[in-house]
Parts: sequence; structure tokens; C-alpha cells
Amino acid sequence: MDFETRAIHAGQEPDPHSGAVTTPIYATSTYAQKAVGEFRYDYSRTANPTREAFEACLASLEGAEHGIAFGSGMAATTTVMHLLDAGAHVVAVNDVYGGTYRLFSKVYEPKGYRFTYVTAEEVNAGLGSRLDGAAMLWLETPTNPLLNVVDLRAASEAAHAAGAIVVVDNTFASPYLQRPLEHGADIVVHSTTKYLGGHSDLVGGVAATSSPELAERLQFLQNSLGAIPGPFDAWLALRGLKTLAVRMRAHCGNAAQVVEFLQGHPAVEQVLYPGLADHPGHQIAARQMDGFGGMVSFLVRSEAEALALVARTRIWTLAESLGGVESLIEHPGQMTHASTADSPFAVPATLVRLSVGIEAAADLVADLDQALEDT
Ligand SMILES: Cc1ncc(COP(=O)(O)O)c(C=O)c1O
Repeated sequence: MDFETRAIHAGQEPDPHSGAVTTPIYATSTYAQKAVGEFRYDYSRTANPTREAFEACLASLEGAEHGIAFGSGMAATTTVMHLLDAGAHVVAVNDVYGGTYRLFSKVYEPKGYRFTYVTAEEVNAGLGSRLDGAAMLWLETPTNPLLNVVDLRAASEAAHAAGAIVVVDNTFASPYLQRPLEHGADIVVHSTTKYLGGHSDLVGGVAATSSPELAERLQFLQNSLGAIPGPFDAWLALRGLKTLAVRMRAHCGNAAQVVEFLQGHPAVEQVLYPGLADHPGHQIAARQMDGFGGMVSFLVRSEAEALALVARTRIWTLAESLGGVESLIEHPGQMTHASTADSPFAVPATLVRLSVGIEAAADLVADLDQALEDT
């Protein structure tokens, strides 16, 4: 079955009790047992039918055997990091989401985990001995917020040769545009808060893998650490998946029009978008993605201009997060990526990030035009 069909049907049989076409929200913490140990479900931290429907559907869309849901993207990342023991060496692309960098540098590093940060360019040039002794390669592509692109197949081959597992944060692309496991990655993680939920009304996360060993361990950790989503959030994420394909097509179409407008504007110094032919990762993105996504970043002349611009838009809401139907604008340096300020790879202060929504493209362009007019 094709992606669109699986998004609506995978893991979602009509409810066996009522025939309800829509998976019910099983708001229960516990379940009746026929006799001691005789049960399908015993406790909702361990398993819940609404959560299972979401996990099965997401796994199908990522081409994975197993999905494991969490209470946030960071909870997914935290649980995946618990696959490793203190002292482990992680090689990570430097341009990761600021919260991921904060987790690595402020939580795991003090516990003795070791991190080597590499640029997307370095990953694509082949990491060679930098992977020596690494237990994990942590990738994001396209990266947040600079939209750098990593060659997933080459990076996965290099990591596996060095004995490391490959984790890819696929939040920016969504499985509609990119399925990292098809390119050799071992685990995919998402913040479902973003494109998968799609309506800015939930916080959630998920991991997916086809490795039975990794799945078993992650399910054990999901239950043991307990960073699970409640059934209502699992249901919202499941509902979001149903329209993922149509939303992603609309996001990509609008982003292309916004990029074209920004490129022709004198106040814009540079547009960062993997769909542009002169983007350094364009060829790789064209090969491993089915579209270039709805995230666009651009540089203006000064930080003051960037800060003034993001406060002047009327349709674009000044807000953190991304991936919802509504368009958002933000200043990564002082907002989403403030936690990288003291790192060697702080984002440029003149950077503006857009999450292009699915409103009418002409309205989005007109709003940016009036906001840029005054810069
Ligand atoms: C790429 C990426 N990964 C992970 C996260 C963390 O997800 P959450 O906010 O759901 O914990 C975010 C949040 O912005 C993100 O952009």
C-alpha cells in the first residue's frame, strides 16, 4: 500500500468493541485481568491501545518494524541515549536542535559521556578516524536551523564500519519526504510536536527501528524510564499522521514560493533552503528526499533588522516550534537556539527561521513583503 493509504489505515482497524472507525482514546491506567497473568494489556505505562495504534502507523510510514512513542521529542532522545552507558563516545552533527545540544552538553557530558561535534560538510567528506571508538553517530538532516544536509547512506556506511549505530532526527523532513532507515540508519527519532502532529496542539516524540534488539531495548527503556505520551496526545499524533502527505505537499509548495520571493529581496543577504540549486547539500537532498520541506532560513544585514522583522509580521506568528499548519517566524539566536550561544557553533545573530504553513502562499509572501519593507 502507498504512503497515503498506510497513513490512514496502518494500525487502525475499526474498534473491535463498538465498530468505531476512529481509534478510541483509551483513557485508562489499568486493565482487568481474566486470571493472574492472563491479559492483553496490564498497565498503561507499559502499553495502551491508542498509543499502540500510533506506534504501528508511524512505524509503517518510516518503513520500520517497530515504533516506540514518548511524551516529547526530548523524551525520545533521552531514552535513545540510555541505550549507551556512561563513558560512551557519540559523534554528532554540530548543527542539531538547541535542546539536543543542551541535553548532550549539560546532562550527558557531566555524566561522563563524550561528544565529538562535526559539521555536515565533514560528515559528507567522510569521517574516517573521527568515528574511532564511537558507539553512536547522531545526525539531523536537514539540520535545525541552518538546513544543512547530511548524506545518510554514506554516513551510515562509515558509522557501521566503525561499529557505531546511526540515529537520525527526522523531525524537519517527516517520513513523507525522507525515510532514514531506507538509507541505512538504525533508529529514527521525531518530535511529533512538529509535522507529524501538524496542528501545534500537542507535545510528543517517537523512535522507530527495524532492529529487533534495539526495539526490545527501547521498549524496555520506554517502560522503565516511563517518558510516555498519554492516550489523548497519542491520539492527536495518530490523527495528524492521516493528513501528513497532503500537508507536506502544501508546505513544500508554499516554501518554494516564499524562497523565490526572499531570493529577489534586497534586504535578504542569503536564503538557506536545500531546494536551491546552489545549496551545498542540494544534490544529496534531491537524492535522498522526496521534496525539500517547509523550513526556510535566511540571513539579513544585522541582528537589529532580524529582531525588528520577526516582530512586524501579521500572519507569520512570532513563536518557537515548527511544522504546524500555521506559519511561524523566529530568531533562532535568541529563541530556539539560545542554548548554543556558549558553544563553538552558535547560530548567526542575523538568522531568521521560517516554518512555512499551509495558508495561501500569496498572503504569506505579502506579509513578509510588508515586514521587510521597513527594514
Ligand atoms: C529537530 C528537533 N528535534 C527535537 C526537538 C525536541 O522536541 P520536543 O520539543 O517535542 O521535545 C525539536 C524541538 O524543537 C526539534 O526541532
